[in-house]
Amino acid sequence: MAKITYVEHSGATHTVDVKTGLSVMEGAVKNNIPGIDADCGGACACATCHVYVDEAWLSKTGAKSAMEESMLDFAENVEPNSRLSCQINVSDALDGLKVRMPESQH
Ligand code: FES
Repeated sequence: MAKITYVEHSGATHTVDVKTGLSVMEGAVKNNIPGIDADCGGACACATCHVYVDEAWLSKTGAKSAMEESMLDFAENVEPNSRLSCQINVSDALDGLKVRMPESQH
């Protein structure tokens, strides 16, 4: 279980408990948090679950796979801390994680 804070582009903040084994994307969708569309359902095939990982958490969220890197090419406003949230697995080590959502997923 990890407490994850999702910050919408507007600044609206949602902090929820997300079970280990879910992805950061699933944590948002299950809690009805707006800003992550996840059109492909977590298959790393849509790039509509784009988030910006808080700089302090970049080392804990791990590295992007080659597939994630290439899907991020389809996202808008990609930054060095951009990730596809369906590719970040929740564990106790991510307790306190903070991610920001982009203005749009399309
Ligand atoms: S949900 Fe489609 S790439 Fe993450």
